[in-house]
Amino acid sequence: MLGPNGASKTTTLRSILGLTPPRNGSIHFDARDITRTPTHTIAQAGIGWVPDDRRIFPTLTVARNLAIAKKKTRFRSWSEKECFEIFSALEYLMARECENLSGGEMQMVAISRALIGAPGLVLFDEPSQGLAPKVVQDVMKTISRLKSEGIAVLVVEQNVQSALAVADRAYVMHLGQIVHAGPAAELREDADLRLQLLGV
Ligand SMILES: Nc1ncnc2c1ncn2[C@@H]1O[C@H](COP(=O)(O)OP(=O)(O)OP(=O)(O)O)[C@@H](O)[C@H]1O
Ligand SMILES: [Mg+2]
Repeated sequence: MLGPNGASKTTTLRSILGLTPPRNGSIHFDARDITRTPTHTIAQAGIGWVPDDRRIFPTLTVARNLAIAKKKTRFRSWSEKECFEIFSALEYLMARECENLSGGEMQMVAISRALIGAPGLVLFDEPSQGLAPKVVQDVMKTISRLKSEGIAVLVVEQNVQSALAVADRAYVMHLGQIVHAGPAAELREDADLRLQLLGV
């Protein structure tokens, strides 16, 4: 999901999570209508969230933050070991308090928390924001890996190129509306369309 600042991308993710209830329309996940369902029930149904502010508990250690993220859903939970395979630095940060982590380190914890919570869908809000190129690569690889395991991923990105490289479908939002929906390949390959919709 792409679009300028203020387009309502974050609001859309918050609506799916039940944090900002939609005024109209409905939200379906895993053959269930989850419109106006409480957020904890939606999380329990298997929707994971990596918020743009990488919300984690600052005074807890990384290990504790991961431990309390564990959840039983009908989807599979990722082990800590699998998270270390994705983010090799994570293993050495386990005893650290989260408030002392760098932005990139927090993002590794935030994504690992979502995976440990056994998601069938993961919502990423601008996951590459402020990250070093190597970590952006790790994040995009994680997204590809989730897809290859049949887990749905909805990514909001300003980094148009990285997002289009991993996405199957693209949605462009503007002023609270979806103004374009189609295969990601179309936007990837059509420079004129990209310029017209996204200015890049
Ligand atoms: N709780 C709220 N009450 C009223 N207006 C809100 C609320 N949350 C967001 N908005 C407004 O809704 C619009 C969309 O906000 P949103 O955060 O969804 O945009 P966004 O597409 O995620 O933008 P960005 O790329 O800057 O993160 C903005 O104009 C914002 O000020
Ligand atoms: Mg936003």
